[in-house]
Amino acid sequence: MILPDFGPFIYFYDKDRFHRKPGMPALHRHFSLQRNNTFGVEGHAALYASPASPGELAALLQEYPPERFPLLVIGEGSNILFRSDFNGLVVRPACMGIEPVRTRGNQVWVTVGAGENWDSYVATATGRGWYGLENLSLIPGSVGAAPVQNIGAYGVEVSDHFAWLDAYDTEKRVQVRMDHQDCRFGYRSSIFKSGSGSRYIILSVTFCLHTRPVLNLGYGNVKQEFIAGGGQTPDDLRKVIISIRQRKLPDPAIYGNAGSFFKNPVTEESILEDLRSAYPDVPFYPDQTGRVKIPAAWLIEKAGWKGKRIGRVGTWPGQPLVVVNYGSASGQEILDFTEQIRKDVFHQFGIDLEREVRVV
Ligand code: EPU
Repeated sequence: MILPDFGPFIYFYDKDRFHRKPGMPALHRHFSLQRNNTFGVEGHAALYASPASPGELAALLQEYPPERFPLLVIGEGSNILFRSDFNGLVVRPACMGIEPVRTRGNQVWVTVGAGENWDSYVATATGRGWYGLENLSLIPGSVGAAPVQNIGAYGVEVSDHFAWLDAYDTEKRVQVRMDHQDCRFGYRSSIFKSGSGSRYIILSVTFCLHTRPVLNLGYGNVKQEFIAGGGQTPDDLRKVIISIRQRKLPDPAIYGNAGSFFKNPVTEESILEDLRSAYPDVPFYPDQTGRVKIPAAWLIEKAGWKGKRIGRVGTWPGQPLVVVNYGSASGQEILDFTEQIRKDVFHQFGIDLEREVRVV
């Protein structure tokens, strides 16, 4: 790998670690990203740092401005696929803390550091009587990554409880506050996934939660399982969601994966009607915009890819939308596998699946 010219500011400390300047986070050279992506694929960052405060991040980017050094911001790597080494600076924000900052009526606003683990935060919130995020239990990843793809599960999305976030604007080199509208949330999308949004590095996120239980039981068999288990409280709902996920989805600590690899396609009703004439059993869900969402899992299953395995890569037998690294597959092998799925689905249904996972 050719290391970019990182300039004269840094001094070697030992083989893999640069000298830490005052106010700067520790810098690592030729840093393995294998433990920083839930697919568990190998890849290296030319330079890696995990700033623990906005000040450390600003100091870091002062020395390594993104105009000169390619920048990649990651969370816990649960929605990313590395195809190769990253010949630039990888930053993993590590700002921590979970603080209630305001209350009004039955609502509480809670500010959470971008580096906090998402599920630990959900557990803390539920435990402290701040409700609304139970349906998002056990989603892998960091709090800072949650608004980027507007994580969602079992009828709830992060945007439903989002109040504002603080981010570092790498172009203007200032800290900015962004509200709901600024973030332009959509289905598994936000401004941060677009070209214009990549300039922001999320430092903390503030959520608006309920201080009285409001249970969201509308999705699939959630209500049925909740009642069958004698459920009553938000904590019971969290347990039901965890149990459903553990039954249905592979644990990334055992089987490398990044959750749903593709988004569920959202199409015009006319496309659905065409599809229904050939496949009367096609499931679909109307979305808020008058279009319909067709489960990618169904399309993949019908195209013959459910539980299929090629070499060290396969789809999860219980949920074919999840692509699994069964051995030490490379990022390229995983990508090739998913491109074959995409091709077959397009050939059979005329629907082009869009990746949810970010390929780097
Ligand atoms: N289905 C099949 N075959 C299967 C599995 C599912 O045909 O083997 C069809 C069924 O019709 C089923 C439908 O797919 O009703 C939906 O399945 P599921 O409830 O498992 O949800 P999903 O749409 O496949 C989405 C999210 C998941 C989230 C679940 C639960 C996306 C891309 N994925 O999956 O999120 O956990 O809903 O809310 O929207 C993730 O984003 O990484 C993720 C795992």
